[in-house]
Amino acid sequence: MTSPTKVAVVTGGARGIGRGCVHALAERGLDIVIVDLLRPEMERTRGEIEAMGRAVMIEEADVADHARAREIAAAVKARFGRCDVLVNNAGRGNPTGILEITEEAFDRTIAVNLKSCFNYIQAFAPLMLEGGGGRIVSMSSLNAHTGGVTSAVSKFSYAAAKAGIIGMTKALAKELGPTIAINAVCPGIIETELGNSLTRTRGAELAKKIALQRVGKPADVAQLVAFLATAEPFFITGQAITIDGFQWEI
Ligand SMILES: NC(=O)c1ccc[n+]([C@@H]2O[C@H](COP(=O)([O-])OP(=O)(O)OC[C@H]3O[C@@H](n4cnc5c(N)ncnc54)[C@H](O)[C@@H]3O)[C@@H](O)[C@H]2O)c1
Repeated sequence: MTSPTKVAVVTGGARGIGRGCVHALAERGLDIVIVDLLRPEMERTRGEIEAMGRAVMIEEADVADHARAREIAAAVKARFGRCDVLVNNAGRGNPTGILEITEEAFDRTIAVNLKSCFNYIQAFAPLMLEGGGGRIVSMSSLNAHTGGVTSAVSKFSYAAAKAGIIGMTKALAKELGPTIAINAVCPGIIETELGNSLTRTRGAELAKKIALQRVGKPADVAQLVAFLATAEPFFITGQAITIDGFQWEI
């Protein structure tokens, strides 16, 4: 008897690192649910994954919206009856310093990067527990460790949110174990298809300060996420794993 197809939910899966994760998980035989704000980009990624023979569901939603996460979990349960993998990837930098940022902008950075993880873990953990197990991977950042002081795209509010993900990951590894394993990934500088202001303006200079002499690509991060999401046997939980080509002085 063949085992049922596993299902992965990837937030922010329309483009960038999330799209890389969607590809890597589909290549490993999982059906995919993408949650994102960008409908045309979700449609494009859906086409790519359906061409690989996998089922894809897309949900247009703001990950900061707690009620929508519950609705989407109910829709995933109705369509697939299971959720084996949750990748909390959606997130956004904030380049504003402490003396300039508004309360609303601070709250929004925390909501999109950190509360989103709470929203989706609370919504999907029951389905994982019902199914007898699951894996969660949340996208933190090297900035959680370094503060990202010289970064053009993200300052303290982003670093705080991404550091919060690490604390949440460790606490939930204890609370949800042994049934669910949960880890965080901390990428250094990753050049996505759109690029970011840092890699556009300082890519070559930054590469000189990275041991592997290049900035990362979505596929680099996706490889690690797919490992954490699917490897068997598996004995890793509550960890924050840096993937940065070993970056220093940035
Ligand atoms: N690119 C890097 O250098 C880097 C480094 C460390 C961590 N990260 C993290 O990796 C993750 C992916 O970043 P990326 O570089 O691929 O960025 P990206 O902007 O290319 O992709 C992010 C995706 O998330 C979606 N998204 C953003 N806010 C959302 C919201 N409120 N609701 C639903 N979807 C939303 C976007 O629409 C987009 O599809 C983020 O959490 C980011 O903080 C990126």
